[in-house]
Amino acid sequence: MLRKVLFVLMSLAPVVAVAESVDAMLQEMTIIENNTALLQTAIEDGKERAVLCVRCHGDDGNSKRDYIPNLASQNAAYLFTQFEHFANGVRKDYVMSKLATGLSTNDRIDIALFFSRLEVKPRPQPVTAGKQGEAIYKSVCFVCHGQEGHGSEQYPRIAGQPYEFLQNTLMKFLNNDPARQNSPMMGVIRNMNEQQLDDVAAYVANMP
Ligand code: HEC
Ligand code: HEC
Repeated sequence: MLRKVLFVLMSLAPVVAVAESVDAMLQEMTIIENNTALLQTAIEDGKERAVLCVRCHGDDGNSKRDYIPNLASQNAAYLFTQFEHFANGVRKDYVMSKLATGLSTNDRIDIALFFSRLEVKPRPQPVTAGKQGEAIYKSVCFVCHGQEGHGSEQYPRIAGQPYEFLQNTLMKFLNNDPARQNSPMMGVIRNMNEQQLDDVAAYVANMP
């Protein structure tokens, strides 16, 4: 109800011209996040909408397969922005690209808020963390992803993601794979080799 009122108000405001831009949507998400009642409704709606997602990403946002990322505890703005990337082709994945275009903007906001509030659970990882991986993390990655790997408003959480997803993703960045274009990660790891990426992926996968 509150939410309807908000939308009516917003549609009367002059910002309507940019209402479809990602920034405007992120602003709308912030308004919802700062209002307990709106947030609760959004999370409930997001949970309903997430029926399409849980088969792969898990009921609680902890993914069911190691090539699939956890969505639990991921920063909501990052989740939302990735939908935009899948929908507009900057990021490509067979299933996700189709799904992203089928969701309304409200659905994308609600789903992002729902998953961001769930907790990442420890998962069995096929590798253990080693000294080399730790050294790379603590000299490079922490700058953006944080000491704990939990990310922030601007940067994704990476701690506890499945090793396979991390390794695949880092290889895509290293190979300038068009499936993940225009990412700052390409510059960050340009001078690293596969062994170093495997080591740091193992370290990150085992971060709580
Ligand atoms: C058939 C399995 C499948 C289904 C169903 C699915 N996803 Fe995904 N999703 C994936 C895979 C695989 C990736 C990783 C793609 C890649 O490597 O870039 C992914 C990536 C994502 C990402 C990017 C996360 C990150 O950390 O980079 C988001 C956000 C996401 N999915 C949301 C959703 C939502 C919301 C739904 C439901 C509407 C959904 N997915 C349904 C398989 C699925
Ligand atoms: C200059 C800031 C910066 C640094 C340093 C950095 N990252 Fe990133 N990283 C980002 C940004 C921004 C994204 C989101 C990129 C996108 O949307 O493609 C990202 C995305 C990622 C992803 C994909 C996450 C997902 O769920 O899709 C992984 C994995 C990752 N970084 C690992 C690392 C590792 C490992 C290091 C250290 C070797 C590192 N990053 C250093 C900025 C950084």
